[in-house]
Amino acid sequence: MAEGHRRLVAVSNRVGPLNDEGKAGGLAVGLSDALKRRGGLWFGWSGNTSSKGTFSEATTEVEGNVAMATIDMSEEELQGFYYGYANRSLWPLLHYRLDLAEFDRQSDRIYRSVNQRFAARLAPMLDDSDLVWMHDYHFFYMGSELRQCGFKGKIGFFLHIPFCSPEIFTALPSSHDIVRAMLAYDVIGFQTDTDRRNFANFCVRELNGQKLPGHRLQVGDRIIVADTFPIGIDAPGYARFAVSPEAGEHEEMVREIAGDRLQIIGVDRMDYSKGLVERFRGFERLLEEYPENRGTVQFLQVAPLSRSELGAYVELRRELEELAGHINGRFATLDWTPLQIMTRGFTRRALAGIYRAARACLVTPLRDGMNLVAKEYIAAQDSDDPGVLILSRFAGAKAELPDALIVNPYSTDDVARAIQRALTMPLDERRRRWETMRDAVFHGTAAHWCDSFLDRLERSGRDEDGPAGE
Ligand code: ADP
Ligand code: F6P
Repeated sequence: MAEGHRRLVAVSNRVGPLNDEGKAGGLAVGLSDALKRRGGLWFGWSGNTSSKGTFSEATTEVEGNVAMATIDMSEEELQGFYYGYANRSLWPLLHYRLDLAEFDRQSDRIYRSVNQRFAARLAPMLDDSDLVWMHDYHFFYMGSELRQCGFKGKIGFFLHIPFCSPEIFTALPSSHDIVRAMLAYDVIGFQTDTDRRNFANFCVRELNGQKLPGHRLQVGDRIIVADTFPIGIDAPGYARFAVSPEAGEHEEMVREIAGDRLQIIGVDRMDYSKGLVERFRGFERLLEEYPENRGTVQFLQVAPLSRSELGAYVELRRELEELAGHINGRFATLDWTPLQIMTRGFTRRALAGIYRAARACLVTPLRDGMNLVAKEYIAAQDSDDPGVLILSRFAGAKAELPDALIVNPYSTDDVARAIQRALTMPLDERRRRWETMRDAVFHGTAAHWCDSFLDRLERSGRDEDGPAGE
């Protein structure tokens, strides 16, 4: 812990890794970059199930200045909390997929009880001088549960994924309970102004709240801060990864296999929010409408499996494999396979090398809180021959990276046109766009995100903020 800082206690469902293991997920990447700098305690789920579940003892591992304390869940908790409420109700709802959202009383109950038990396990490890920082939609109730356990210090919350419009959020049977519980936090952080406004509008319209100056909200006699803190990556660190020997080997390998062909890359968890089906169709349209690309481009989609117990994800995998087979069947020649899909993980260094070898990167989610792949791709390029980022207008990253080629991911023609433009873009335009985006990625780093959030949390409850911690 740096001198003069209070201890940081971060809480998230997934904990770690701190090293370059290549696990997919923006939260783990952003938070580990931030925690390694500042040190502290990281608390959450062990990733295991055991019969005692959240009653189990916490296991603590220390790596450098970070202690990671984790507890198990029971099988029932895993099903009801993680697969059920978090990923069958909240995830689709907050990503505007009301058609995929399922609501049931049982998983709602288990979600609340897991939040309560995690809080009860964490409370004895805390001191009121700690800064507690909760992360993501798994723990909406945990701040209010920690208050019930008697914790009086500051508690912040950051939502890594979108906060949908109130019209959609009110479909959740517990929407009022959730937002009322969130008022226990002193500062609530969002990725974009749109998310922040959606939350504020919910408070105003549904809970008779009031917007106050300084991005504060008042509901009843409770005043909290709800502000925008876009997450970033450790950009200088990532740029160093990109020139490491491991990155070099992977870059070389991709270039060798590509030969004279231009490489297009996509890197996403296999999730319906990432717009992969629409992206594949956009690539197919490119080959239809711009036939000069047949035999001269190849598209590699890295898509590690995620939440594969859930029906919507099983269905997505089936659809993607079928579509990839269809596109390859339609266009492949004896010496050319247009599209390759790969579900394996890579270390961050290896991935950085793969990004470097790619002329264009497709980041086309239908909705995304931020999207760190977009920032990693930019950080991995250099001025000699920078690639082109094609970015969805529905990714949080669009606010900071308007110099990407911005597309509507639902429009097959728009995606095809953007790929064609990326493949034919002159070097000076590629450089110009990349330089502006590089500046943004190096400015809005994980460290900046962490420091600005924690600084706001430290200041909350003072001067204009009114009483906090009640
Ligand atoms: P999300 O949090 O929804 O998964 P992000 O784009 O914000 O989306 O973050 C994904 C993170 O996971 C990035 O840091 C990316 O590099 C990493 N990642 C994605 N696929 C892989 C993979 N196959 N191997 C290693 N890391 C991956
Ligand atoms: O960044 C969004 C996020 O949902 C994180 O909360 C999560 O850790 C990550 O994506 C991967 O999802 P999961 O933890 O369900 O594998």
